[in-house]
Amino acid sequence: MARKFYITTPIYYVNARPHIGHAYTTIACDTIARRQRMLGADTYFLTGTDEHGQKIERAAQAAGKTPQDLTNEVSAAFRGLWDRMGITYDDFIRTTENRHKVRVQELFRRIRDNGYIYKGTYTGQYCVFDELYVDAVGPGAPCPECGRPTETVHEENYFFKLSAFQDKLLELYTKQTEFIRPETRRNEVMSFVRGGLRDLSISRSTFSWGIPVPDDPKHVIYVWLDALANYITAIGFASSDKADQQKFEKYWPADLQMIGKEIVRFHCVYWPAFLMAAGLSLPKGIMAHGWLLFEENKMSKSRGNIVRAETILDVLGSDALRYFLLREIVFGQDGSFSFDALVQRYNSDLANGLGNLASRTLTMITRYFRGEVPYPSKQAAHGASDDAIAELAGKTIAECNALFDQYQFSRALETAWGLVAAVDKYIVDNEPWALGEKHDEQSLARLATVLYTSAEALRIVTALAHPVIPEATAKIWMQLGLGDIKQFPVSELKWGQLRLGTRLGNVQAVFPRADKSAIERMQKMEEQQASVPATEAQPAATGTGKAAIATQTVTATPAQPAKAAAIIPDGKIGIDDFAKIELRVGQVKLAERVKGADKLLRLEVDIGTEVRQVLAGIAEAYAPEVLVGRKVVIVANLAPRKLRGLESNGMIVAASPEGGKPILCSFLEDVPVGARLK
Ligand code: ME8
Ligand code: MG
Repeated sequence: MARKFYITTPIYYVNARPHIGHAYTTIACDTIARRQRMLGADTYFLTGTDEHGQKIERAAQAAGKTPQDLTNEVSAAFRGLWDRMGITYDDFIRTTENRHKVRVQELFRRIRDNGYIYKGTYTGQYCVFDELYVDAVGPGAPCPECGRPTETVHEENYFFKLSAFQDKLLELYTKQTEFIRPETRRNEVMSFVRGGLRDLSISRSTFSWGIPVPDDPKHVIYVWLDALANYITAIGFASSDKADQQKFEKYWPADLQMIGKEIVRFHCVYWPAFLMAAGLSLPKGIMAHGWLLFEENKMSKSRGNIVRAETILDVLGSDALRYFLLREIVFGQDGSFSFDALVQRYNSDLANGLGNLASRTLTMITRYFRGEVPYPSKQAAHGASDDAIAELAGKTIAECNALFDQYQFSRALETAWGLVAAVDKYIVDNEPWALGEKHDEQSLARLATVLYTSAEALRIVTALAHPVIPEATAKIWMQLGLGDIKQFPVSELKWGQLRLGTRLGNVQAVFPRADKSAIERMQKMEEQQASVPATEAQPAATGTGKAAIATQTVTATPAQPAKAAAIIPDGKIGIDDFAKIELRVGQVKLAERVKGADKLLRLEVDIGTEVRQVLAGIAEAYAPEVLVGRKVVIVANLAPRKLRGLESNGMIVAASPEGGKPILCSFLEDVPVGARLK
C-alpha cells in the first residue's frame, strides 16, 4: 500500500479577501503535495476558511451584511482564487459547515468527558484582533501581541486545563525534534511553555457567531478550538459514516501542518494539548514560515498594504507567482515582495532561463531532426563537455531532491537552475546552429549529441521543477513528447531516460518575455483595487491564469465629457467615434486550435507594448502553422470577453465575404508591429 501524506494549510479568516500572503502558504503546500504525488504517496491536501468568532461578526456588521452572507462571499473568493491558480487541494473545509460543527462539539465532549474542561468565572482583557485573552491590566490596555486596545471581559466560561499539559508538551518538543520547525520557532515555543501555562478560556457568551457548547448553548466554543479542529473534522473525525471513519484512520495524524509564524503558539501549544486531552495522536510536524513583507512591513489586510494574486495572474500567470515566492524567499525567513523583483526574476529565470532553453532546444530538434529526439550514438561524437553536463545533471537530481525534502525551495530551485545555466553555456559553446548548417556526417553526429544532451537536461530540470511551476512544465513535458508529467516518478529520475526517436509535440513558447510595462500595469491594477473596501466582492475571477502575459489590462477610463458635437447626419459617425476604435498592427506569435471548437483559433499576438491572447473564428480558413509570424490588424481596445472558457482580448480584422471564408486584413508594404491605423 502506498505511503500516505496528509498536508494542511491554516484555514484563512474571512474578514477580508485573499492576498499573496495567503497564496504563499497555499503555494508552498501545493508544491509539497504535488511533489509527494510524484513520489508516489497517497496524498491528501486540505485547505479552507475560518468563519466564526467576534472578528468575523464585527467585519460583517461593518460591511452591513449578515455573517453568513459575508462568509459565503469571502470563502468563495478564496476557493475561486485557488481554483484559478490550479491549487490541487483535496478538500476545502468551511467552519460553518454542519459536518464541522457537529464534530467540533464531539471533540469538546470528549475533552470534557476526559476531565479537562471545567466552568469558572473570568475577568480579563481580550484582544478581538488576535481572538486571545492576554496579560494586560485595565480597560483598553494595549494587547502585548499586536498593540491594539483590549476589551475587558467578565464572563462565566468553560476552561481548558492547559496547565496540566506543560510537562507533556515539553517532553513532546524534546523527543519529537521535528514537531516544530524551524529551530528558532521551536526554541521560542519551548521557552514560552517553560514560563508556565495557565488554563485557557474556551467558550464565550457575549456574542453568538460560533458553534454552541454542547448542552449549554448560551456559550459558543472559542474560535481557535473551533478552527484548529478543522484539521481532523475535514477528514472524518467522529463521523458515524464508515467511509469517513476509514479516511480519518488512514490520514490522521497529519504529516505536515504549514502555518505562518504568527500562529505558532496556537498550533504548537494549544493544538497538541487539545489533541492529547481528547486522546488523539499528534501531527508529525508543524512548519512555520516567515512573513511576506511589502515595503518592510508584514503584508496584511489590517495594514491594507496587500498585493492581490489576481493582478499577477492576469499579467504573468500563476507559475510566475509560484516561482518567485519560492525562489526569492528563503523558506522560514521573512522576505520582501516587489513588482520590480518579480518581473526581473520572471525574465531572467523563466523567460530567458528555462523558457529559452526549451524553445531553442526543441526548435532545433524540430528543424534538424524532423521533430524526433536524436541519439548520441557515435562514440567519436562525444566530448568532455557532454559528459560534464550528464554528470552535473546527476548531481543536480540528488541535491535538488534532498533540498526539496527539507522544504528548502529556494536552494532547490537555485540548484536546478544551475543546470539550466550550464546547459545554456554548453549550447553557446557548441554552436548547434552552426553544426546544423553543415551537412557532413561528423557534424551531424555532433549535432545529435549536443541536442540530445540539451533535451535530456531540459527534461531533468522540467521534472524537478514541476511541483513549483506545474503549468509550464506540463507544457514542456508534452512538447518533449513525454505525456503526463503529474504521473512521472521523480524518485526514479536519472540521466539517459530520454529515448531515441521520441516524437516532440507542438513546440511553443511557455514564458513570453515581460516588458517594463508589465510592472506599471500591475501597479495600476493594484491602485485601482485600493479603493475597493477590503470585504467588498470583486468581480468573479475570469480566465484560467494560463494565459500568461497575453491578457490585457482593463484601465477604467473616466466618462468622456460631452463635447460640443458637430451635427452628424443619421447613420453616420463622427471622426471622434472612429478614433475610439484602437486599430493596431500585431504579429502572431503563437496559434493553436481550441479544443472542442471547430472554428476557433487561439492566437498570441504581439502588439508592440504587450502580447495579447485573442480568439479568432478563422480556423476553417487558416491552419495555425501558417499564421505564426504573420502581421494582422487587431482591434486593441475591445472589452475582453470569454469564449470556451478562454479570455479574448481584442479582435482580428478580416474581410467576411457573404457565404465565403474570412480573409485576414494585411499590408503590401512592410509595417512595424504596434503601428496604429487611423
Ligand atoms: O490566522 N506573509 O487566519 P489569517 C506570509 N484563521 N504568510 C501570510 C501573510 C504574510 N504577509 N499573511 C497571511 C488565521 N499569511 C486563522 C488561522 S488555522 C486553524 C486558523 C498566511 O487569515 C500565513 O499562513 O490571518 C498565516 O499564518 C495565515 O495566512 C493567516 O491567515
Ligand atoms: Mg492573521
